[in-house]
Amino acid sequence: MDRFVIHGGRRLEGRVTAASAKNAVLPILAACLLTDEECVIRGVPRLEDVATMARLLETMGVEVAWRGRTVRLRAGRVSERAPYDIVRKMRASYYVLGPLVGRLGRAEVSLPGGCAIGARPVDLHLKGIEALGAEVRVEHGYIKARARKLRGAGMVLEGTNGPSVGATANTMMAAVLAQGITEIRGAACEPEVADLAAFLNRMGARVEGAGTPTVRVRGVSRLRGAEHRPIPDRIEAGTLAVAAAMTRGQVEIRNCRPDHLGVVIETLRATGAEVTARRTSLAVSGPGRPGPVIIGTAPYPGFPTDLQAQFTALLCLARGTSVVTESIFENRFLHAMELARMGAQIEVTGRTAVIKGVARLQSAQVMASDLRASAALVLAGLVARGETVVRRIYHLDRGYERLEQKLAGLGARIERLAE
Ligand code: EPZ
Repeated sequence: MDRFVIHGGRRLEGRVTAASAKNAVLPILAACLLTDEECVIRGVPRLEDVATMARLLETMGVEVAWRGRTVRLRAGRVSERAPYDIVRKMRASYYVLGPLVGRLGRAEVSLPGGCAIGARPVDLHLKGIEALGAEVRVEHGYIKARARKLRGAGMVLEGTNGPSVGATANTMMAAVLAQGITEIRGAACEPEVADLAAFLNRMGARVEGAGTPTVRVRGVSRLRGAEHRPIPDRIEAGTLAVAAAMTRGQVEIRNCRPDHLGVVIETLRATGAEVTARRTSLAVSGPGRPGPVIIGTAPYPGFPTDLQAQFTALLCLARGTSVVTESIFENRFLHAMELARMGAQIEVTGRTAVIKGVARLQSAQVMASDLRASAALVLAGLVARGETVVRRIYHLDRGYERLEQKLAGLGARIERLAE
């Protein structure tokens, strides 16, 4: 297992380019199951999760051909089964459920199970496809769905923790080939949902309102192959922006959509960072110690839960006390204990962390636990004087393509060592 060795204390300066959004790429790759014609997805980041999705699709019979960051997929004859040994590696494998039910009328997808940050139930995914007429059974750890012909339907798809990105995406992908009109109320509004809809519409689907709480789908009889370049990764861009602010650096982030980062930019400015937003780039500088803020994660367009850990790391250095409330996932403060080992003063009670800022963090050996917690520890290592070692970097590689190279390109002293 790889580890990062970081010598902190250097300001980050220069330009860096964000990749395409992992959380748009994953459902878009699965959506290629909806046609037997060739689809071409460009600018795809070479991430562990993307490789896992490609491997899953290949085991199901999809032809997958890579050339750099362009991937060609052709789902001729496909199996309806997504096996446990792949799904257990990446819960987003469940994105094949909707397309399989839509295209084949049947699916056998292993239940994804929970993960470090929470139970991650899939009840809303099942509610969505059942509303379209699928019969769903859960047997021996597999979701088994059958539908002679899916019919459009109206439904409310949000749960006690708000809308579900995954359930919205899966239901949309099942509805595009259903007979009639589907209306999803309480739909997730994340930009990645809108980007998936844009791809589906390029394939000949008729999806309206994606990115708003009400999505309407008019079913069509078949879909054709299409080409697409997914939207930039707002979470990677946000992570790099925090790195600039924390190190009191000056960084320009390219291939970025500031219009997808509204609340994040406001929050960064509230800490005292200077942020200049242009149409496709973000310039961030951190003149001094950040000021304290109050953050509450929420469904889009609220503060993204996927940037909570990174901002928690930033607020460890604040001139005062901050409060961060995590309303989306029940266990998403795993980074707090590791940051405390670096001298941070964080008190977590339930879904709220109270962070008393300190003047500096101390280098230490720390352990990554999940994707975004790993990013928070790397950010802390960039500012802690001395040598910080972040172990279990495989968590980070799931969602960031060679992050150490991007940070080193901005002046960080960071290297990857194989354990
Ligand atoms: C997506 O996960 C993202 N993953 C997550 O990013 C992100 O944190 C999350 O959306 C929220 O924005 C991908 O897109 C691959 P949800 P997803 O369904 O779809 C509850 C990262 O770091 N819920 O929107 O699984 C759920 O427990 C990852 O890149 C149900 O109750 O999240 C949570 O409390 C981490 N029943 C809330 O809804 C369901 O059937 C939001 O979850 C589904 C979800």
